[in-house]
Amino acid sequence: MKNKKITVLGGAGHIGLPLSIVFANKGFDVSVLDNNLETLRLAKNGIMPFKEKDGVKNLKKALKRKLNFYSKPSNFISDSTIIITVGTPVDEFLNPDMSQIKNCIDELIPFIKKGQLIILRSTVYPGTSEWLFHYLNKKKKCHVAFCHERVIQGYTFDEIEKLPQIIAASSNSAQKKATEIFEKISKKIVYCSLKEAEFSKLFSNAFRYSQFAVANEFYMLADRAGLDFNRIRKITKEGYPRAEGLPSAGFAAGPCLLKDTMQLLSFSRNNFSIGNSSMLVNEGLVLYLIDKLEKKYDLKKKNIGLLGMAFKAECDDTRSSLSYKLKKFLISKAKNVFCTDPFVKTDNKLVKLNYLLSKSDILILCVPHKKYRNLKIKNKEIIDIWGFIKK
Ligand SMILES: NC(=O)c1ccc[n+]([C@@H]2O[C@H](COP(=O)([O-])OP(=O)(O)OC[C@H]3O[C@@H](n4cnc5c(N)ncnc54)[C@H](O)[C@@H]3O)[C@@H](O)[C@H]2O)c1
Repeated sequence: MKNKKITVLGGAGHIGLPLSIVFANKGFDVSVLDNNLETLRLAKNGIMPFKEKDGVKNLKKALKRKLNFYSKPSNFISDSTIIITVGTPVDEFLNPDMSQIKNCIDELIPFIKKGQLIILRSTVYPGTSEWLFHYLNKKKKCHVAFCHERVIQGYTFDEIEKLPQIIAASSNSAQKKATEIFEKISKKIVYCSLKEAEFSKLFSNAFRYSQFAVANEFYMLADRAGLDFNRIRKITKEGYPRAEGLPSAGFAAGPCLLKDTMQLLSFSRNNFSIGNSSMLVNEGLVLYLIDKLEKKYDLKKKNIGLLGMAFKAECDDTRSSLSYKLKKFLISKAKNVFCTDPFVKTDNKLVKLNYLLSKSDILILCVPHKKYRNLKIKNKEIIDIWGFIKK
């Protein structure tokens, strides 16, 4: 491969930065392009802006190689392959919000040259890759590929080289170029069409989201019947391979699962009943807990402590965390609500664990961070939907 230049747009984000580091450490000349000046500054100085296993070690190694940082596109992008990792959220109507992709493309267009390859790595609404191809080609004749990210957030360096890379492209030469890049970081490449790849990513996130919904619905069914779902799950799974995929109950949240399920719901014109029901169940678990507490206690007299505010275990990211939904409801009902998390650094209202434990009458385990596994709690109610705390 002659030209080893890559620009990662959104390169200081949760997906973009680890990917940039992986490519730089494989000998590519990587330009990190991101309009978030603070995360750029941190990365430039060898500090990971968010928690990523082995992130600092790999970032420091990459900084000794070819890893440069930019906040605006200019001529440096013109002879590189561009990988787009900007956010693809849903809007207030739960429909796809394409503005980040469209805005960043408009900013790139003046500097793009004919024949350049643009790779979409963000998770996108079906049809976005074809839209991008036609949109670009009205102005500049470019190649487009869709090569989505599949690592689990926070564990890129463990996973990325183990996972097969799915490549979909607008032409044979785009496929060849994308392969030359990704074969340096993936052992296996799988090919398909642009739309198949877009659906594959959305299906995998909607599938996980619905698996969590099944567990959460079972939890509420068992709980209403006065039974412990986690005991039932344990005996069901014992030596029984067909129940292996049954997850524990718990808050199913974060920046991807709900919004990607909603992208499919929107695409299907709301004819995606499992996706829709999964959203009602997973979001409804929070309301179920509040109803349960209100039936049992006069909450106005109770201090409630929330353990874990990130959206998942061992993570510092609070985006779309259901802990905050729970907090919002409880604030209007309880005497006080205290929140703690060992990893979250973006919330100055958090308190220390010991303070929370001493002040709270009722504890709710929102996130199963390892630190909470051996908590010794006496004379207080603890709600542990995960069945995580050692009894
Ligand atoms: N977080 C995950 O675990 C994960 C996993 C797989 C796929 N994805 C997908 O990857 C995409 C990115 O997710 P993320 O969690 O990394 O988001 P993020 O918000 O952490 O990162 C996006 C980055 O893009 C930057 N950006 C936005 N517009 C820009 C512009 N015009 N110019 C320059 N920079 C710009 C932002 O500053 C930010 O740093 C989404 O489509 C998401 O669904 C995420």
